[in-house]
Amino acid sequence: MAQGHALVIGGTGMLSEVTVWLNKKGYFVSVIGRRNERYHQLMEKVESPENISSILVDYHKTEELRQSLIEAIENRGSFDRVVAWVHSSAPDVIPALLKLQEQYHKKQEFELFHVKSSTGYFKQETPELPANCTYYEIFLGFKQYSGHSRWLTHEEISEGVKDSIHHGRPQTIVGQIEPWEQRPH
Ligand SMILES: NC(=O)c1ccc[n+]([C@@H]2O[C@H](COP(=O)([O-])OP(=O)(O)OC[C@H]3O[C@@H](n4cnc5c(N)ncnc54)[C@H](OP(=O)(O)O)[C@@H]3O)[C@@H](O)[C@H]2O)c1
Repeated sequence: MAQGHALVIGGTGMLSEVTVWLNKKGYFVSVIGRRNERYHQLMEKVESPENISSILVDYHKTEELRQSLIEAIENRGSFDRVVAWVHSSAPDVIPALLKLQEQYHKKQEFELFHVKSSTGYFKQETPELPANCTYYEIFLGFKQYSGHSRWLTHEEISEGVKDSIHHGRPQTIVGQIEPWEQRPH
């Protein structure tokens, strides 16, 4: 019996290790992505394949996304924990998800770990949150070593997200964002 239902939006890409980790921690994990091959690659890494399910949908298609989420909720219950990496081209994804959670999540609290790019750090935008949502922001920065800078690896990103979940900090910066002018070009 899984200990809760987690949703990882973009969980077949750079957040694959987060999906694997949540599965190992005993969550039933629903994973959003478009490509089945990426989902199958992920399946090879998980400890409990019976506790994972794919939601194959293009999240720009909001109504399709909504229907897929409702199906996942009806099968496994509403989401106790959400980790979301959504491209800025799809601003309706988080509001649509939160609306469904408001409607279906009758349990006490749920957590939203919102993974954002460095530009999100400067925008300081927060979605409208239902009262029972605890919100965490994770900003992806860059790494700098003796005058050289580079963007984060997938491993560093996943480790940063796991660390944020583990410590429950309201805001986490993975790597660094300042001084911004020293970011990789
Ligand atoms: N500050 C930083 O260092 C930083 C910040 C951001 C990104 N990055 C890097 O930039 C690279 C590119 O980022 P990325 O987001 O393209 O990589 P990604 O994490 O490999 O892919 C995005 C994830 O979201 C899913 N996805 C993408 N578009 C979707 C859609 N329209 N509908 C549903 N699911 C969708 C993908 O699955 P499908 O492809 O199957 O749809 C995948 O699971 C990454 O490799 C990362 O290292 C670095």
